[in-house]
Amino acid sequence: MPEKETSGTVSHGTASRKAEHLRINLEEDVSAKGVTSGFERFRFVPRTLPEIDLADVSTVVDLFGYRLGAPVFVSCMTGGVPEAGVINRALARVAQRHRLALGLGSGRVLLEHPEALPSFDVRSLAPDVPIFANIGAVQLKRGVGVDECRRLVNLLRADALVLHLNALQEALQPEGDTVFGGVLERIAQLCRRLEVPVIAKEVGWGIAPDVALRLLEAGVSAVDVAGTGGTSWSEVERHRMTDPVRRRVAAAFADWGLPTADAVRLARRAAPDALIFASGGIRNGMDAAKAVALGADLVGVAGTFLRAASQGEEAASELASEFIETLRIVMFCLGESSVASLRGTPRLISDDGRDRTALTVELALGSNGIGSSHDITDQVMAAVAGSAILTGVVHCFLQDAGATIQIGTPPARTTSLISTGGQALDRLVPPDLHRSRDGHGPAHAVGAVESGSDRVPLVSAAAPVVGGRLWLGADQRITVVELGAPRERRVTLQVLGQ
Ligand SMILES: Cc1cc2nc3c(=O)[nH]c(=O)nc-3n(C[C@H](O)[C@H](O)[C@H](O)COP(=O)(O)O)c2cc1C
Repeated sequence: MPEKETSGTVSHGTASRKAEHLRINLEEDVSAKGVTSGFERFRFVPRTLPEIDLADVSTVVDLFGYRLGAPVFVSCMTGGVPEAGVINRALARVAQRHRLALGLGSGRVLLEHPEALPSFDVRSLAPDVPIFANIGAVQLKRGVGVDECRRLVNLLRADALVLHLNALQEALQPEGDTVFGGVLERIAQLCRRLEVPVIAKEVGWGIAPDVALRLLEAGVSAVDVAGTGGTSWSEVERHRMTDPVRRRVAAAFADWGLPTADAVRLARRAAPDALIFASGGIRNGMDAAKAVALGADLVGVAGTFLRAASQGEEAASELASEFIETLRIVMFCLGESSVASLRGTPRLISDDGRDRTALTVELALGSNGIGSSHDITDQVMAAVAGSAILTGVVHCFLQDAGATIQIGTPPARTTSLISTGGQALDRLVPPDLHRSRDGHGPAHAVGAVESGSDRVPLVSAAAPVVGGRLWLGADQRITVVELGAPRERRVTLQVLGQ
């Protein structure tokens, strides 16, 4: 049974709304209607020969200087009323036990009523995990400035501040704050001055990629797309309403928003290198694994943890174990030993994969400088397997002519050209060409050797897909060879066919 609350009591409008929110979330059906988070549309393609041991799989990730047990966090929920304190403490102990990041509910009530601190203050229970403080972004237009945000972070000894963007919820609340004009500039000002990372999130309707990019440009350290498919705040607010017209207006938004699976995939495509979190309708470890495969660095869970925590700490702890163990076994069955390799795995297909005619996968390759090579054959094979395309072609396009891509028997022909210190090139092209001082000499020279007179090295290669397999001759490999200084090289793989 949950512990009894004795401290941290405050009584006023914001607190009673928080108490009502908790009650409604636990007693009513507040799920989105007529729409899902979208994860059921995706399936993993098993790697029946994982070629790793289960013991090799690590779900560990690093965030804000902490080492986490899994890429999972308890999303921001509550605080300010006694029952919230009970929930927060149970979740904090669970977060500490499983090394999960922990979000706290909106701290507005705490700024207005410092006596609410005991219901939020869980740092001593969770000393080894990142804690996120939280406030509505619109409050930045209502007198909450950098100093107040700093005070909130310090009171909670938090590692980051989460700003929630909840325009629809505020519009549905009779007491809502709807002055969203100019909020982005306030966010940018805050990001410039606050000492801890700022994270922007929705509350369950999804951040579309254009907005994610604007938030990242404004300086937020991470975007939590917080998409549709789980808790619906229009449904929560509907349960607070008595006026029939307002209830019908709220009901109209029961399927509003961008499903989480789509939101995270689009955000990752728009911002390949950004810190992207996914939350909204994450029910279990399988959803979490799919969210990571679609591009999430961290996966957030609110309603599901709230319901478990309301049954007591042990139930919430079991839920955390279930998430982590499912994730670990998914990774094993895909042959992915790290969370980084699960992210963007090509072994995730959408259920409409039967009709698929194309799959695009981006590879990012490190480079050790001229002559170094990457054998990408296994990644191309995985893309072909993940595409579910039986007959077609896989095209590999290198997005920069400072390296070259080729199909052949190792070592790659270009590697041997370069590895002789240029002597082989001397015999094939005029030395002044490949020893030119613009730094691109080897690239020009290899291009001249490979493609005749246009002096551009080969930046694309294509291979057949037959019977769902990459159809390379025996011993043939696909290799990217660096022709310049060390830098990241990106390869776009497109599997085309049916
Ligand atoms: C009881 C409850 C209270 C919440 N309060 C907050 C809050 O104060 N600040 C916030 O950013 N999000 C809040 N949320 C939204 C969640 O963080 C999350 O974005 C949303 O519930 C969707 O995730 P879910 O489908 O896993 O519940 C709350 C959610 C619940 C269930």
